[in-house]
Amino acid sequence: MMKLYGVYPLNPIEIVKGNGSYVYDKTGQQYLDLYGGHAVISIGHTNPHYVASIKNQLDNIGFYSNSIEIPQQQHLAGLLGEVSGLNNYQLFLCNSGAEANENALKLASFYNGKKKVIAFSKAFHGRTSLAVTATDNPKIVAPVNETDNIVFLPFNDESALEQAFATYGAEVTAVIIEGIQGVGGIQVATDSFLAKIRSLTSQYNAVFIADEVQCGYGRTGSFYAVNDGGVKADIYTMAKGMGNGFPIGALAISPQFKPWHGQLGTTFGGNHLACAAAIAVLDVIKQDNLLQNAKMIGDYLMSELKGNNKIQEVRGKGLMIGIDLAPELKDVRKELLFKDHIFTGTASPNVIRLLPALNLTKADADLFLEKFNNRLQQF
Ligand SMILES: Cc1ncc(COP(=O)(O)O)c(C=O)c1O
Repeated sequence: MMKLYGVYPLNPIEIVKGNGSYVYDKTGQQYLDLYGGHAVISIGHTNPHYVASIKNQLDNIGFYSNSIEIPQQQHLAGLLGEVSGLNNYQLFLCNSGAEANENALKLASFYNGKKKVIAFSKAFHGRTSLAVTATDNPKIVAPVNETDNIVFLPFNDESALEQAFATYGAEVTAVIIEGIQGVGGIQVATDSFLAKIRSLTSQYNAVFIADEVQCGYGRTGSFYAVNDGGVKADIYTMAKGMGNGFPIGALAISPQFKPWHGQLGTTFGGNHLACAAAIAVLDVIKQDNLLQNAKMIGDYLMSELKGNNKIQEVRGKGLMIGIDLAPELKDVRKELLFKDHIFTGTASPNVIRLLPALNLTKADADLFLEKFNNRLQQF
């Protein structure tokens, strides 16, 4: 029998069903899902409007290429502009987070003709060629990806950024940053650091790219995490929460960028089914005020967690929360999964990441707090 190419360390659990913030394995065991399949489940599993929209689209047509008009793309762009508050930006649709960042970096370089990219320590931007070199993890950079065009600077270090621009600012095509680093362990960019990126990129005709693949799409309570501090990026990239599990990624591109035919492209990007999924997600985000809910439940969780003296540090915003635990508590996450039946995410060295659906209820937050507190007491 053909074998799978084993790149993923797997938990011995087979999930066969989902409903809201809960998933069920093949034995019928229920799990509270505070991981959302890695920040992907934004409106909850099997949301009825979402399921109906995809089924309905599939009954009509699932796919046709970007050689014809697909009005669902414009519908999606209209909704995204409205919900994000950036109506004057332009939408380019693709299929994943890495692809979104790859295109954003490419677009920056087309725009200003320059080559150097500034990225930050612990950044994760994906695994395609440029995105992976802008990712601070040499282990996943293949020799063929290696380039001298990426410079890593310390995160939140304004003077290092100023120094870099003073030295080689004329060569910088783009600065790419996650408003809150996900894989990096929930590190929040400060407002003044983001403001510094904004002013230096403007001054040096470089492009400010906000990688909102994990921290965006309403997760922090703002539609885009970097906008919280009052700055606007030139390009926002997004993916995970956008399709609630249907693969779709995108760039929101500010008006100064002018497209030409063939500049960017993809076979699958913006197909009928992906648009139906993404439109349904935004319908639900809008109708159910999920940004507000993410902020409210997130604030509640963070303030409750901060009062727990077994926790070293709590970081994040909205429903993107990192809980730093001491090394002796390294098994808490496994016990939460296998004994309390709660899915959470992780980041090194010993961070529990909460990335639940944006409609997580207070009752579910309380259930987690109770089980988590009990678990911590046992160590
Ligand atoms: C911030 C960020 N950017 C980009 C990516 C890559 O997205 P994808 O796995 O969809 O290519 C990820 C995935 O974890 C991410 O967290």
